[in-house]
Amino acid sequence: MKDVRATPLCEMRDMQKAFGGIRAVDHVSLELYPGEVHGVLGHNGAGKSVLMKMLSGAYRRDGGQIFVEGQEAQIDNPRDARKYNIETIYQTLALADNLDAASNLFLGREITSSMGFVNDPMMEAETRKIMSRLNPNFRRYHTPVAGLSGGQRQSVAIARAVYFNAKILIMDEPTAALGVAETQMVAELIGELKRQGIGIFLIDHDIHQVKLLCDRASVMKNGRLVGTVNVADVTEDDLLGMIILGKMPDQAR
Ligand SMILES: Nc1ncnc2c1ncn2[C@@H]1O[C@H](COP(=O)(O)OP(=O)(O)OP(=O)(O)O)[C@@H](O)[C@H]1O
Ligand SMILES: [Mg+2]
Repeated sequence: MKDVRATPLCEMRDMQKAFGGIRAVDHVSLELYPGEVHGVLGHNGAGKSVLMKMLSGAYRRDGGQIFVEGQEAQIDNPRDARKYNIETIYQTLALADNLDAASNLFLGREITSSMGFVNDPMMEAETRKIMSRLNPNFRRYHTPVAGLSGGQRQSVAIARAVYFNAKILIMDEPTAALGVAETQMVAELIGELKRQGIGIFLIDHDIHQVKLLCDRASVMKNGRLVGTVNVADVTEDDLLGMIILGKMPDQAR
C-alpha cells in the first residue's frame, strides 16, 4: 500500500527474530503515522508481541531497521526505546499493586527535591493534573492500585506513558481483561491520545473493536505479514479472512 501522508512517526523495516528454529517474526515491515491507531492482528503465536517487543527494546532483533521520524533509531534495550518516546502498555499491566496511582506513575522516575528526597506532594499534583485530562472521574488517589478496577488501572498505565511524552505507544491487548464499560473507557482514552497526535500500535483480538478504533490494520500469520489495510475499506469478515486464511481480501474471494 502506498501512503502519501507525511513522514511516518515510526517505521520498522524487514524486522526478524527467531527463537531456536521458530521464526517468530519473519521479514516484517510496518509504518505508523502521527495520530494513527494501527491495529496489529493475528492468531496466538503469530508474532505480534515479539514484533512490538523489538520496537520497545525488550527483545533484540536479529535483523531489520527501525526509523523514528525518518531517522534510523538505535534500539537495543528499553532505555533506548524511551529515548525515542516509545512507551508500552503491557498485556499484563506492569503496575506495582501495593503503591498508589502517583507512585506508579513515577515508578523508577520519581520527582526528587534538591536534597534527593522523593517529592510526594508534587508527584500527586502532577498525577491529578494528567488524570483530570485523561480520566476526569478518577478519585482514588490514595488507594494502592491493587484496589482499582481494570479500567482504572489501565488509565494509570496510560497516564504514565503520556506524562513521559510518549509519541509512539504500544498497547498489547489493553482491554483483554476488561468489562464492557471499562473497554469503552479505554476506547475513549485512545481517542484522546490520537487527538494529541500520538501514534498507537494496538494489538487486539476483538475485530469489532479494531473496526471501531483503528485507522489501519496489519495482519500477521506464522511470523509473516499478511498485509496492511485501511480499516474503512474492509469488512470484519475481510479481516477475519486475513487472520484465518492468511490472504488479502481480494485474493480470498
Ligand atoms: N522468549 C521466547 N522464547 C521462545 N519463544 C518465544 C519467546 N517469545 C515468543 N516466542 C515464540 O514466538 C512466537 C510468536 O509469539 P508472540 O508472543 O509474538 O505471539 P502473539 O502474536 O503475541 O500471540 P498472542 O496473541 O497469543 O499474544 C510464538 O511461537 C512464541 O512461542
Ligand atoms: Mg501477544
